[in-house]
Amino acid sequence: MRWLAQAFLAISLVEAQYASPNTTTPGNNDTNPVELNDATSPPFYPSPWMDGGGDWADAYAKAQAFVRQLTLLEKVNLTTGVGWEGEACVGNVGSVPRLGFPGLCMQDSPLGIRFADYVSAFPAGGTIAASWDRGEFYKRGFQMGVEQRGKGVDVQLGPVVGPLGRNPKGGRNWEGFSPDPILSGIAVAETVRGIQDAGVIACTKHYILNEQEHFRSPGDFGDVGFVDAISSNVDDKTLHELYLWPFADAVRAGTGSIMCSYNKINNSQGCQNSYLQNYILKGELGFQGFIMSDWDAQHSGAASTFAGLDMTMPGDTDFDSGMSFWGPNLTLSVINGTVPGWRLDDMVTRIMAAYYFVGRDRNAVPVNFNSWSLDTYGYQHAFAQVGYGLINQHVDVRHEHFRSIRLAAAKSTVLLKNSGVLPLTGREKFTAVFGDDSTENAYGPNGCADHGCDNGTLAMGWGSGTAFYPYLITPLEAIKNEVVSNAGVIQSVVDNWAYSQIEALAKQASVALVFVNADSGEGYITVDGNMGDRNNLTLWQDGETLIKNVSAVCNNTIVVIHSVGPVLVDSWYDNDNITGIIWAGLPGEQSGNSIADVLYGRVNPGGKLPFTIGTTASEYGPDLIYEPTNGSSSPQDNFEEGVFIDYRAFDKNGIDPIYEFGFGLSYTKFSYSNLKIVKVSAAPYQPTAGTTIAAPVLGNYSTDPADYQWPANLTYVNKYIYPYLNSTDLETASVDRDYGIDYEWPEGSTDGSPQPRIAAGGAPGGNPQLWDVIFTITATVTNDGDVAGEEVSQLYISLGGPDDPKVALRNFDRLSIQPGQSATFTADLTRRDVSNWDTVTQNWIITNHTKTVYVGSSSRTLPLSAKLEI
Ligand SMILES: *[C@@H]1O[C@H](CO)[C@@H](O)[C@H](O)[C@H]1NC(C)=O
Ligand SMILES: *[C@@H]1O[C@H](CO)[C@@H](O)[C@H](O)[C@H]1NC(C)=O
Ligand SMILES: *[C@@H]1O[C@H](CO)[C@@H](O)[C@H](O)[C@H]1NC(C)=O
Ligand SMILES: *[C@@H]1O[C@H](CO)[C@@H](O)[C@H](O)[C@H]1NC(C)=O
Ligand SMILES: *[C@@H]1O[C@H](CO)[C@@H](O)[C@H](O)[C@H]1NC(C)=O
Ligand SMILES: *[C@@H]1O[C@H](CO)[C@@H](O)[C@H](O)[C@H]1NC(C)=O
Ligand SMILES: *[C@@H]1O[C@H](CO)[C@@H](O)[C@H](O)[C@H]1NC(C)=O
Ligand SMILES: *[C@@H]1O[C@H](CO)[C@@H](O)[C@H](O)[C@H]1NC(C)=O
Ligand SMILES: *[C@@H]1O[C@H](CO)[C@@H](O)[C@H](O)[C@H]1NC(C)=O
Ligand SMILES: *[C@@H]1O[C@H](CO)[C@@H](O)[C@H](O)[C@H]1NC(C)=O
Ligand SMILES: *[C@@H]1O[C@H](CO)[C@@H](O)[C@H](O)[C@H]1NC(C)=O
Repeated sequence: MRWLAQAFLAISLVEAQYASPNTTTPGNNDTNPVELNDATSPPFYPSPWMDGGGDWADAYAKAQAFVRQLTLLEKVNLTTGVGWEGEACVGNVGSVPRLGFPGLCMQDSPLGIRFADYVSAFPAGGTIAASWDRGEFYKRGFQMGVEQRGKGVDVQLGPVVGPLGRNPKGGRNWEGFSPDPILSGIAVAETVRGIQDAGVIACTKHYILNEQEHFRSPGDFGDVGFVDAISSNVDDKTLHELYLWPFADAVRAGTGSIMCSYNKINNSQGCQNSYLQNYILKGELGFQGFIMSDWDAQHSGAASTFAGLDMTMPGDTDFDSGMSFWGPNLTLSVINGTVPGWRLDDMVTRIMAAYYFVGRDRNAVPVNFNSWSLDTYGYQHAFAQVGYGLINQHVDVRHEHFRSIRLAAAKSTVLLKNSGVLPLTGREKFTAVFGDDSTENAYGPNGCADHGCDNGTLAMGWGSGTAFYPYLITPLEAIKNEVVSNAGVIQSVVDNWAYSQIEALAKQASVALVFVNADSGEGYITVDGNMGDRNNLTLWQDGETLIKNVSAVCNNTIVVIHSVGPVLVDSWYDNDNITGIIWAGLPGEQSGNSIADVLYGRVNPGGKLPFTIGTTASEYGPDLIYEPTNGSSSPQDNFEEGVFIDYRAFDKNGIDPIYEFGFGLSYTKFSYSNLKIVKVSAAPYQPTAGTTIAAPVLGNYSTDPADYQWPANLTYVNKYIYPYLNSTDLETASVDRDYGIDYEWPEGSTDGSPQPRIAAGGAPGGNPQLWDVIFTITATVTNDGDVAGEEVSQLYISLGGPDDPKVALRNFDRLSIQPGQSATFTADLTRRDVSNWDTVTQNWIITNHTKTVYVGSSSRTLPLSAKLEI
């Protein structure tokens, strides 16, 4: 029985790859929920092999030369993690001692370095997005990369563009940039370039549609019992025009690695979804790097190998199970002929090409910290508790990054309301500060594991996407410094429920600064009943009551919001006593200094909202799924709203937001004039044609099991994953009860012959002609006020079709303009920018609908417009 059950499980994994598509991609453009429900993902095999396209030729040649020297066991070592807490980093693959190659270290997070001391805590992705500043995106990426490099990290597990932010309650949205794919795409590309220019491989994640925390993985959910992983069901057009868009930008920017996600997509598990990994990512997008699994997101051995996965993390089937879907299994499946040698060669070539692409052969330093302890001496192999010695050299990798972190957070601060009281002078007679969010966490800045609490001022969310703070400058201390240096009076009440003290202090204040917040994070930690995802969009710690209590008695109340995304402000934003509202996001270690720079006018705010602030949660579209909808089977999350998320949904449904996407005030004023459109000639679009080369075979290997046995002299580390076999009898060596069953693997999965190239593909990111500039748009932006300021000028397009957003962002630039002066906003429009995804031809096309461009200061303040003559 047990044998049968296991065989059945294995076969159904295979079948999931075979399942014949008739409801979804490719070719389906139906967003009807009945069609999306139980959507299937079509099979696509073989897994495309790397070809050195784009600017990867040099790295490809070096990688091939390296891989050619490797034995089969060494190749397997580089694909398989050594197991959870097996080595110093959150993930490590095995080494190649024979060649002195130490393996690879993968480390969180998208905003700095998790689990290490003497590191910086940068602004979160969703906060830096509000700067709309390419230079800031790049600089933050570069500085994070420099810090990772200094600790000995090979792969930084970031940046994030999945979740994109379909629903603002999604727990990890703040790790990514914005629900707008263009803003996210530009931010991710600059971040990838920054990290990799510093000599560290970026891992863009989570691929794809990982839009909520609830049910992201199969598991036991307490009283509701076992529930299989959620399936994000999406149609082809929405995939291309929205969720895939920023991944294409990351691939074009050269991201060395991409992490596949926990969830299913169209009912096929992310890390073994052949359509998304083989066809879309490695085929159409021409991705040259390697696909790494999210931690325990691999659910099969050979099936995931054929479906395009290249590296398994952290290597074990479950944390510290001592078992792996790869490791010995992969060795076995190559020597028994299931997995062709070329497929393993391609996996390792991709991994090593990323290594050479960013120059790690020239600038790697040995790992000098240990994720599992800050102690100087401890166990190298934390789970096994062996290898006692020096594990943490406490290398300070921060340089002077605090200066740019302070400025970056200030530039990302969004001024939402100003009745003329801002900037403050510092000479206010009596300053009062309110809110738990203004002050220290009593447990210390790193006092809650993975920041899983909402105590004290909020400067990052919780979960694996965090870093240790070297310190956290609180708003209260920075404001106090300011006022005291001006000989003023300042007092504070930081207990949100001390009503009588709040009233007594607020009554005396000439200005009251109220700090409130809303938090979220990764689903393995629940904070105040929020299992990663937010339960609502209101403030935490009863922030609304705090605001009401202060503004009832103080006619100069300024509210500062630290939050992971949109919060509802409708109950108080238009109160006349509330004279200022500022969204400060998750600013990182310099939080207090950054907000003081804006409040006191040293930095003129120029940030713009990277999302919409509406009146109710339901305005944002379909809710997250918080309860099982399908018994223990995968909840079916149908993305039936298509491309209409965030401002596109508000525009489509005629809902006026309170503060729209792209909105943000300044201490000066800007006006727009003189729109000009120049058509740039570009060659007609050519679909990519022809065939690929055959799969390269790099070296040969013996099929004699005797060559793969455990070395007699190896010091075995408990629960560590090695590539060796326990027996010369393959059936004994395999723990698979159903060993020897010759499954019918998906058609084409072992075929290494030349394959047709994909029309919309051709180079990293997709068909290179998609990036041909076909229009250049300019406009004059004038600073009409009397202080210098920065304005983010925004270009939107209407593609004109009945199913197109009213307007969609296409480009932007942050201009610095002196009072009374003008600057020219210049923005290119590419072929991709004016195209729609065509499900029939499986390519981008320019439709006949009239296209209009708009230029202005937000998604709803677009004073300039003109038709495009295509
Ligand atoms: C999918 O195909 C199956 C078998 O060909 C058919 O029974 C089913 O009705 C199809 N479903 C849809 C939604 O077209
Ligand atoms: C998708 O839309 C195109 C027109 O844009 C139409 O020709 C085609 O039949 C549609 N496909 C499906 C599967 O509905
Ligand atoms: C595989 O990696 C492990 C861990 O680094 C190492 O001990 C072992 O020697 C490696 N095996 C081979 C064949 O290189
Ligand atoms: C091989 O993978 C299977 C799942 O396919 C797993 O159950 C088994 O434990 C793995 N084998 C080893 C030796 O870890
Ligand atoms: C910290 O937060 C937790 C809940 O997140 C709360 O129970 C606790 O009382 C807080 N402690 C302090 C000292 O603020
Ligand atoms: C929303 O969630 C927060 C955090 O758990 C909680 O403090 C607040 O009371 C909730 N709001 C409502 C209206 O239930
Ligand atoms: C505004 O503040 C004044 C005190 O300065 C108070 O008398 C008034 O009631 C407040 N108004 C509101 C709407 O709370
Ligand atoms: C608040 O009220 C005081 C006293 O009436 C007045 O002098 C002051 O200008 C008001 N402040 C604002 C910002 O309206
Ligand atoms: C283990 O034995 C092999 C083969 O005899 C040898 O090449 C290797 O250096 C030895 N390793 C150690 C750690 O002694
Ligand atoms: C192989 O041997 C190791 C070390 O003795 C042991 O931990 C592991 O469970 C064995 N694996 C299998 C598949 O029997
Ligand atoms: C080959 O090895 C794999 C991995 O252990 C196993 O699942 C499969 O059944 C084997 N195939 C054959 C034909 O023996």
